Amino acid sequence: MAHLEWQNGFSVGLEVLDQQHMRIIDYLNALDDADVNDRALIARILDETIDYTQTHFTYEETLMEEASYPFLRAHTRVHELFTHRVADYKRRFDAGEDVARELHETLAHWLVRHIKREDADYAKYLRAHFVKAAAASRPTPAPGLIARIRRFFADE
Ligand SMILES: [Fe+2]
Ligand SMILES: [Fe+2]
Repeated sequence: MAHLEWQNGFSVGLEVLDQQHMRIIDYLNALDDADVNDRALIARILDETIDYTQTHFTYEETLMEEASYPFLRAHTRVHELFTHRVADYKRRFDAGEDVARELHETLAHWLVRHIKREDADYAKYLRAHFVKAAAASRPTPAPGLIARIRRFFADE
């Protein structure tokens, strides 16, 4: 099957987030290539996806919290639902089921619905928030991650 490639339409306008979102494309392509009987490979993709739900979602939620994003709770709830769904695939897979097709559908849906809409929405808010903070240049010490992001926007 032809591989899915990253398109500008998937970009949320922040490179650090785009880089993390590209992992979804990697998983989709790996699932397309995978032999359904290659359970070791499917297991690895599932584990990677679970790792993604932990690291990427924590990263996003930290940024949204720091920027006082008004829809943080709703966004976090959507992350939780996705996390539970993937955990359920893992449970069923471990019980011997074939979940590769369902996982593929869920990831493809996530890319188009969540990343292109909800992530793009908060990324836009973050840009505005940190540009404003950089312009005000208040001498408040910020934790490492936020300081780096503020510098990133200040340099634009
Ligand atoms: Fe995301
Ligand atoms: Fe998100």
